[in-house]
Amino acid sequence: MNEFPRRRYLAAPVSAIGGALSVPGDKSVSHRALMLGGVATGTTRISGFLDSADCLATLSALRAMGVRIEQPGPREIVVHGAGPGGLRASATPLDLGNAGTAIRLFMGLLAGQSFSSTLIGDDSLMRRPMERVAKPLRLMGAQIDTQKGCPPVRLQGGAALRGIDYALPMASAQVKSAILLAALRSQGITRVTEPAPTRDHTERMLEGFGAQLTRQGATVEFAGGQGLRGAALQVPGDFSSAAFFIVAGCLAAPRGLTIRGVGVNPTRTGLLDMLRLMGARITVTPRADAGAEPLADITAYAGPLRGVAIPRELVPLAIDELPVLFIAAACAEGETVVTGAEELRVKESDRLAAMAQGLAATGVQCELLPDGLRIQGGMLRGGRVDSHGDHRVAMAFAIASVRATGPIEITDVANVATSFPGFLGAARSVGLALDEAGES
Ligand code: S3P
Repeated sequence: MNEFPRRRYLAAPVSAIGGALSVPGDKSVSHRALMLGGVATGTTRISGFLDSADCLATLSALRAMGVRIEQPGPREIVVHGAGPGGLRASATPLDLGNAGTAIRLFMGLLAGQSFSSTLIGDDSLMRRPMERVAKPLRLMGAQIDTQKGCPPVRLQGGAALRGIDYALPMASAQVKSAILLAALRSQGITRVTEPAPTRDHTERMLEGFGAQLTRQGATVEFAGGQGLRGAALQVPGDFSSAAFFIVAGCLAAPRGLTIRGVGVNPTRTGLLDMLRLMGARITVTPRADAGAEPLADITAYAGPLRGVAIPRELVPLAIDELPVLFIAAACAEGETVVTGAEELRVKESDRLAAMAQGLAATGVQCELLPDGLRIQGGMLRGGRVDSHGDHRVAMAFAIASVRATGPIEITDVANVATSFPGFLGAARSVGLALDEAGES
């Protein structure tokens, strides 16, 4: 079920934007901090937590399994860890809403528990592939059923897990992380090898909770059965949320647009490389690190962008930023081609199809490829865009308005709250002419 009533954005063109803002905490890091804190021994204090629908789904699921969690402020969380073996069965299925990261990481965390669990979500999540996680977990000894590959996911309690040596068939941090979390309750060594680097927040955070792992080239090695100690964590600003304003700055901020306190883990910042290849002027000023995660202020300046062929190896490092990169491409001079991005087909929506449709609706010439898009840059008109309930598609087209020649109406935008509560206010604060209304 969709949790939110249908909403739409009305985004009018503007002449210029600028200023400075900060963005909410990192979604990937917030999910992981809650989960590791939940099974650690002792107390975990999280500051800068992303208080969004997705992360609150993880929080509620942990509470339903008996973890005591306090939220003294919207961005402050105290998790009283249940310790290894301390979780207990939830009385009802765990509903993870729109959150793909939550359901997949919970599959790993719960595969080796003594009790059974059922995991469900909203309409979008119920259509997303889960076998990519179920398969390696079964190799570890887990007993898991999916419904034709999708949720509900049923995990049988009492399975004895063993370590595996697994080569990921796709570049997915969620699959890698699920295996590492399952390894916490398995015997023997687990090795995961990725076809291309993906975000490494789980590895960094496991170390922050006192676990030991080794990384050699594309392989992470982790000895099963390690206990975790509660930790103090600062969540950096979410690079994926900052991305919308980085592109907005490149398109329409002659005097610069600064996003403060952004996580710049190199497994997340492929968008910066892509935009620089297109000719963008962006400065990154490092700040004192947020513990295990590097932090910076980022300023993007408006200037001409040129179309490029995006190197495939950058794609996994910008997987959530491609919708807004497509907007930059639509405003660049010449052709931009993105390939190797077939994973976008199985996100909160089929993001390749949703973006191609939205670009066509705003007058941009665009060819939908099996694994990417070919975009002819130039002019972006106004028009009516269906976000397909996908937060990142909705925000990408809101950003497009800074260069559009007419207003853009974006439908089905309520899910922006899953990752970026306060997006509307943040956008307005730097000069976007964005309004929200009920669906007409
Ligand atoms: C995430 C991994 C990525 C990303 C998602 C968050 C994570 O998904 O798209 O938004 O926190 O591990 P995949 O692992 O499916 O690539």
